[in-house]
Amino acid sequence: MGLFDVDINKHIIKNEEILSYDYIPQKIPYRENQIQEIANSIKPMLNERSGSNLFIYGAPGIGKTASIKWVLKELEETTDEIIPIYINCWNLKTKYFIFSKIANKLNLAFTAGKSSEHVLQHIIYKLKNKKPVFVFDEIDKIESTDFLYQITSNFPSACIHLISNKFDYVTKIDPRIKSRIILKNLEFRPYNLEEINGIIKERAEKALKKNAINPEHIKQISNITYNKKDVRVGIYLLKESAKIAEQRGKNKIEKEDIKKAIDSSLDKKPDEEKLSKDESLILEIVKDNDGEIAGELFEKYKSKNGKLSYKSFKRYAKRLERLGLLKLKRTAGGFKGRSTRIYIKK
Ligand SMILES: Nc1ncnc2c1ncn2[C@@H]1O[C@H](COP(=O)(O)OP(=O)(O)O)[C@@H](O)[C@H]1O
Ligand SMILES: [Mg+2]
Repeated sequence: MGLFDVDINKHIIKNEEILSYDYIPQKIPYRENQIQEIANSIKPMLNERSGSNLFIYGAPGIGKTASIKWVLKELEETTDEIIPIYINCWNLKTKYFIFSKIANKLNLAFTAGKSSEHVLQHIIYKLKNKKPVFVFDEIDKIESTDFLYQITSNFPSACIHLISNKFDYVTKIDPRIKSRIILKNLEFRPYNLEEINGIIKERAEKALKKNAINPEHIKQISNITYNKKDVRVGIYLLKESAKIAEQRGKNKIEKEDIKKAIDSSLDKKPDEEKLSKDESLILEIVKDNDGEIAGELFEKYKSKNGKLSYKSFKRYAKRLERLGLLKLKRTAGGFKGRSTRIYIKK
């Protein structure tokens, strides 16, 4: 066999796309109630009434995006009257980028170089006599929610759903905007072990060849996933261990393949155990006070017997940023002047 020849009989992965994080499963078990609630929020729009707006929250990797996308897909197949517009706010820094992304979803060309106001006018024109459902996923990643003000004033009959990993994000939205959109809370609770096992098993059956993995190995992957509380961990381990086994020329995943997959996932993260005592303490404090300003975090650090000066404290925080563990952001300046907010890097 040549170096690049593929022996299809030895392949374990039947459909790799199913093992991508963006894949929307045909069924989303254990989220029936949430899916129903999302559908109920939109349904009145089909009868010329207004829908309700939702604030969807819950930990990362537990099916928020998958559930909303599932509902929007179903909606698209049911009606042309309602236009679903799903936007992930990650990396969209200003409202210009948000509006351009919306324009892009609506197949509006030539937005480059135009002002955000200009782009918005095109969107308004395109959505004339239509009923949009706007979903802003990972809304906490956006620097300013000002654009929501324009959305609510220009699309009074629209339904707006905001999604965040942070349950208290809603308290941080500008009251001016909050008074305009009444948001109903919809919580996604974490999965239990049995549910995780069900999800991983289903994914393995769809993506891998028959008998490519034993139930005991699915259980092992499920246990690790349950401890990390993020379904993506399990999907990653399924995919990596399948690839490692294939590279060994096997058509079944063995314990050693899973072990190697676990090790490779650890390599991808900076090793938190190698941090100094002060660095670990700073990291721990930020974990408990994500997004707090540097001065306040320093006070907490001192109250836990931290001995560094404020200057060194900030130097250490910068090093943790370089290691990819923290994110430092200068604030625009409040009554105390400019400061730095420190976040856990997601
Ligand atoms: N109940 C479920 N059934 C099947 N797959 C699921 C379920 N919940 C989550 N997943 C899968 O787990 C991964 C992470 O889910 P996602 O919706 O992206 O999480 P979140 O938006 O909450 O961070 C996705 O690949 C998704 O398909
Ligand atoms: Mg998501």
